[in-house]
Amino acid sequence: MSAHIIAQPVVDERRSQASATDVILTGDRPTGSLHLGHYAGSLRSRLELQGRCEQTLLIADLQALTDSSGRAAHVARHVPEVALDYLAVGIDPQQTTIAVQSRLPALAGLTILYLNLVTVARLERNPTVKAEVELRGFERDIPAGFLCYPVSQAADITGFRATLVPVGEDQLPMIEQTNEIVRRVNRLAGASVLPECRALLTSTPRLPGIDGRKASKSLGNAIPLSATSDEIHRLVRAMYTDPGHVRASDPGRVEGNVVFAYLDAFDPDPAAVSELKERYRGGGLGDMAVKRRLEGVLDALVAPIRARRAELARDRAYVMDVLRAGSERAYVTTEAVLRDVRAAFMLDAS
Ligand code: TRP
Repeated sequence: MSAHIIAQPVVDERRSQASATDVILTGDRPTGSLHLGHYAGSLRSRLELQGRCEQTLLIADLQALTDSSGRAAHVARHVPEVALDYLAVGIDPQQTTIAVQSRLPALAGLTILYLNLVTVARLERNPTVKAEVELRGFERDIPAGFLCYPVSQAADITGFRATLVPVGEDQLPMIEQTNEIVRRVNRLAGASVLPECRALLTSTPRLPGIDGRKASKSLGNAIPLSATSDEIHRLVRAMYTDPGHVRASDPGRVEGNVVFAYLDAFDPDPAAVSELKERYRGGGLGDMAVKRRLEGVLDALVAPIRARRAELARDRAYVMDVLRAGSERAYVTTEAVLRDVRAAFMLDAS
């Protein structure tokens, strides 16, 4: 595999799930730099939708604080880092609005109003919140802001009157909770003030970390979007394959094999990957050969992203400008929605 392969979306079907009238909103918590899992899971669909639909990317710094209030400096530092990641993969601020959540006070205004439409019991039942509470070991000491973050996320989505939200499967309960709030607001208003939204699920299954566990920055098992060639090679060499596949001549397992999961997600030639799987299963293909192919694929994908990121990182004023202009545009949009929702609560009647 040589470096001339142009990285391109492996799947194109997300386009057909969106129509030109859809309004798209997604967000990321600025708790770390983005990695290849984010690329396969959501950045790629955002690139495909760019220019076809109205699209906003929200850097959710307030949401990041709901479980990281002790890491405020870390969160603040990562706001421009996430913006750099967006720009480096090809998000064009002329076509996609990039906004910072904390610069949009209307979202906080919406959250306060929506909190009256949701019970604590309902929040405690939210499967995403439940799983995250366990993951973080909060037990009884759940920050109230954390328990309520689905409501704040409903504010994010409705604040832009979004109709389509590209998310992973783990975020489906958030969409459901958002639509419950939307219906309550519309019932209060006696009119359709807010649109319901639907999830846009990516067809790529969640990309594992190099050890086969969930990819996470803290576990050090993810491949950063700006990884150097050496880093890519080191991480690919360390990838979990099939422990039963000792000699190249042994039959190997493709399921649960991280190298094949990455090839499935990123190799621009799926037919060649199928053939490799066939040979691997039958015995006669060593791990090293497959890993070398993956290194080539990832190098070709990451090299232009890395180069662009390095170039943009030198122009901090530009990145700050993008965030300022995007947040200003989003400010106008979200204030208009808050006005409508306040009216539903009769707040400006006198
Ligand atoms: N909850 C998302 C995450 O953890 C981030 C996010 C914040 C988001 N606001 C959003 C996603 C609105 C979709 C829509 O990555």
